[in-house]
Amino acid sequence: MKIYAHRGVASLYPENTMVAFQEAARLKCNGIELDVQLSKDGVPVVIHDETLERTTNGTGWIKDYSYDELRLFNASYTFGEKFGHCPIPTLEEVCSFVSRTSLTLNIELKNEIVPYPTLEEKVYDLIHSYKIKDQVVVSSFNHESLKHFHTIANDVKTAVLTEKPIDNIVEYIQDIGATGYHPNFTIITKDLMDMLNTYEIAVRPYTVNDPQVMQNLSNWGVEAVITDYPQLILS
Ligand code: G3P
Ligand code: CA
Repeated sequence: MKIYAHRGVASLYPENTMVAFQEAARLKCNGIELDVQLSKDGVPVVIHDETLERTTNGTGWIKDYSYDELRLFNASYTFGEKFGHCPIPTLEEVCSFVSRTSLTLNIELKNEIVPYPTLEEKVYDLIHSYKIKDQVVVSSFNHESLKHFHTIANDVKTAVLTEKPIDNIVEYIQDIGATGYHPNFTIITKDLMDMLNTYEIAVRPYTVNDPQVMQNLSNWGVEAVITDYPQLILS
């Protein structure tokens, strides 16, 4: 079973920052997961919330700031002075970093609340520019967006992200053109795993932070877990 560091190593480092992604590589995680949105001037930026308050010293919506403005906010704000100033990364910085590693990059299109037209095209352009298509899996809770991404980039793997069970899940995944399924770990059962494995659908549940749960999921044949605590397993 592979280990993906959720938002970087989010239990120890400021989430979705370069230091968190670098720590994931140092720990020898198999992959990293991140969230991408667009700045006001259309730059793909790596941050989870649509607003700045929880993870930075800024206020307001990501969509209302240019990237030059966003870069001034400190994404390690909640960690005090421990990591100094950590800017909100661009997706380009992360793609460049990943291209120099063997990490898998799980890019979550964070576009359920703010639609961000052209996000899919911009993400694909970066994957293409950095020649990392074989290292990437794109996921989203916005399944229309995922379908659109697949139509413009059918050479990049996609995965259906969901918190709740979906009826006829195999057909649903295949209709989107996805090859993976990223469910909340609480909705997985052994029977479901047996069926998904029969259809060779790669299952990578989130956010699995309990080692005993990781062990059970491993026994059931998940391909990877997305976790805030990769250090627990990898140490
Ligand atoms: O991609 C898995 C997981 O990150 C989805 O939930 O809210 O942490 O982005 P969230
Ligand atoms: Ca995410």
